[in-house]
Amino acid sequence: MKVLANDGISTSGIDALTAGGFEVITTNVAQEQLINYINENQITVLLVRSATTARKELIDACPSLKIIGRGGVGMDNIDVEYAREKGLNVINTPAASSASVAELVFAHLYGGVRFLFDANRHMPLEGDSKFKILKKNYAKGNELRGKTIGIIGLGRIGMEVAKIALGVGMRVIYSDSFVESAQVKVEFFDGQSVSFDFRTQPISELLAKSDFVSIHVPAQKDYIIGKAQIDQMKDGAAIINAARGGVIDEVALIEALESGKLSFAGLDVFENEPTPAVKVLMNGNVSLSPHIGAATNEAQDRIGTELAAQIISILK
Ligand SMILES: NC(=O)c1ccc[n+]([C@@H]2O[C@H](COP(=O)([O-])OP(=O)(O)OC[C@H]3O[C@@H](n4cnc5c(N)ncnc54)[C@H](O)[C@@H]3O)[C@@H](O)[C@H]2O)c1
Repeated sequence: MKVLANDGISTSGIDALTAGGFEVITTNVAQEQLINYINENQITVLLVRSATTARKELIDACPSLKIIGRGGVGMDNIDVEYAREKGLNVINTPAASSASVAELVFAHLYGGVRFLFDANRHMPLEGDSKFKILKKNYAKGNELRGKTIGIIGLGRIGMEVAKIALGVGMRVIYSDSFVESAQVKVEFFDGQSVSFDFRTQPISELLAKSDFVSIHVPAQKDYIIGKAQIDQMKDGAAIINAARGGVIDEVALIEALESGKLSFAGLDVFENEPTPAVKVLMNGNVSLSPHIGAATNEAQDRIGTELAAQIISILK
C-alpha cells in the first residue's frame, strides 16, 4: 500500500511505515495535480501538514484513499466530517508537539525578562560603538523564579507550560472554561516526580495576579485578551501568545506596550498571518517568532511515528 506524505514526514515516520510494509512517497505534488496523482498511483493514505488541502472534491474523486492524516493539531485544511461520512479514517497527532510549543513559550519568557529580543536587534548595529549604553539599557532584568504565571487554557500545551513553570520555581495559576481542577505531574530525569493540584479561577482573578500570562486556548470567536482584560493585568506584566492569532487584540496590545502598561509580549502567532501587521513587527517590546511553536525535530519525529502507528493499526 502507498502512503503519499505530500507535505513531508520525518525519517522516523518513513522508517516505521516502511517496516510496516508501506511504500512512502514524499514527492510534493501540486494541489491542482493531486487528484490525478492519487488515482494514477493508487494512493491509500494521504498525509498532509498545513499546506495541502483535502476537500470534498478530492475525497469524492479519489476512491483508493482509506486514510487522510494530518501531522499536527488543527484539521482546518481537511473536510473531516465529509471524509468520515464517506468511510475514510481521518487521523491527527494532537499531543505530539505540545512540549515543543511550551518550550517556545519559555524561550520568549526568558528572552523577554532579559531583553534578549531587543539586544539581538541592537548589538549587531551598535554593540561595538555603544556597548556601555546597551549594557545600561538591559541592566534591569528579572528572574522568572518566584513569579506567577497565569495559564489561560489548561489543555495539552497549557499542561506542558505548567510543568516547565513549576520546574523553574514559578507559582502557577490557571483559568479554563471546561477544566475545573487538574493535577500536574512534573517528571525529572531520574524518574522522580512531584504532583501539584490546581483549581481553575476566573480569568479576571488570573489577570490581576499574574506577572506573566500565557494563552493556550483554541481559536475563538472573540478576543480572549482585549483592552478591558489588559486593564485588569498587573502594571508591567507580560503576555505570551503561542496559541492562535485572534485571541489577543493586537491594537490593544500595542497600545499597552507603548504606554508601558505591559513590559513585553512574546508572539508566535498573529492576527494576519502570513502578513502580520507592521506595527506589531516593528514594536521594540515584542519578542517575535514566525509560528514555529511545533517546529522542532523532536516534535516532527513524534508526529511521524504517531501517524505511522495509527496507520499500521488501522490498515494492518
Ligand atoms: N504555535 C504553534 O505552533 C502551535 C502549535 C500547536 C498548537 N497551537 C495552538 O495552541 C492552542 C492550544 O492547543 P492544545 O493542543 O493545548 O489544545 P487543547 O484543546 O488540548 O486545550 C485547550 C484548552 O483551552 C480550554 N478553553 C477553550 N476555550 C477557552 C476559553 N474561552 N477560556 C479558557 N479556556 C478555554 C479548553 O477547555 C482546553 O482545556 C490551540 O489554539 C492550537 O491551535 C499552536
